[in-house]
Amino acid sequence: MIKTIVITGSTDGIGKLAAIKLAKEGHEIYLHGRNAMKLATVIAEVKELSDNPTVKGFVADFSDLEAVKQMGQQLINAVPKVDVLINNAGVFKSAISHNKKGLDIRFVVNYLAPYLLTHMLLPLLSKGTETRILNLSSAAQASVSPQALIGKSQLTTQEAYAQSKLALTMWSFHLAKTLTDISVIAVNPGSLLNTNMVKEAYGYHWASADRGADILYKLAVSTVYTGVTGQYFDNDQGAFGQAHTDVNKQAKMDRLIEATKTIIKI
Ligand SMILES: NC(=O)c1ccc[n+]([C@@H]2O[C@H](COP(=O)([O-])OP(=O)(O)OC[C@H]3O[C@@H](n4cnc5c(N)ncnc54)[C@H](OP(=O)(O)O)[C@@H]3O)[C@@H](O)[C@H]2O)c1
Repeated sequence: MIKTIVITGSTDGIGKLAAIKLAKEGHEIYLHGRNAMKLATVIAEVKELSDNPTVKGFVADFSDLEAVKQMGQQLINAVPKVDVLINNAGVFKSAISHNKKGLDIRFVVNYLAPYLLTHMLLPLLSKGTETRILNLSSAAQASVSPQALIGKSQLTTQEAYAQSKLALTMWSFHLAKTLTDISVIAVNPGSLLNTNMVKEAYGYHWASADRGADILYKLAVSTVYTGVTGQYFDNDQGAFGQAHTDVNKQAKMDRLIEATKTIIKI
């Protein structure tokens, strides 16, 4: 069955590789990038490599929540349904640590942007078949400071990244409980995969980017995962596993969602 699949942050790294694999199977792929020229180049490349002319894309800088909102609206106007949403766009190191609203770029790109986009797309996702939402987590997860999330205290790059990834993971579990007929899975695609993010952050890698792309591909369309929801796939182990213990702490979950709602009123 041909699926409509939206992959954020698919102009590079594991998102781009997963898009190529999925496009090769004939799925209708919507790419996303922050740079219009790079996105146009990648759309042409994915079309050629996959021999799939249906590949399209949207531009939005996810460090700006207004741009995310505009992209969400463009998708709503252009696409009748979404079967798979892969919230993959992510940032670790950044020349600019905070956006114009004073929020740490890691929290905005890695957590608030997917939160906003997903909520906007829920009506399209509810029209999908065996709908899946994949949220890109990480082995790096640290307890979220609601004060840091709302921009009232500062974190190091590593802390901000790890907190943003736990925020995304906690919200995945929360969202899964509120949705019926839509699966939500948080996935650590594997640690230190060979991508730009890892090159910039560490200068060395442990595994190929394909390792991450392969698991995104499988979790997106394989029937093995039909109906699986509210779980954490740890690709360092190659299996579902335990996320950070905060995902099961209701008081922390409530504080996260409450702080998030002070920024995103949806
Ligand atoms: N690589 C790993 O070992 C690893 C491990 C755990 C989790 N992850 C997660 O996997 C996901 C993909 O990462 P990757 O390793 O493939 O990194 P990558 O090669 O750096 O790709 C990141 C993607 O996100 C996009 N992006 C970055 N900042 C953005 C912004 N402000 N607005 C819109 N798009 C933006 C990038 O756009 P450009 O093409 O313009 O740069 C690119 O398409 C991330 O969420 C990351 O945290 C990766």
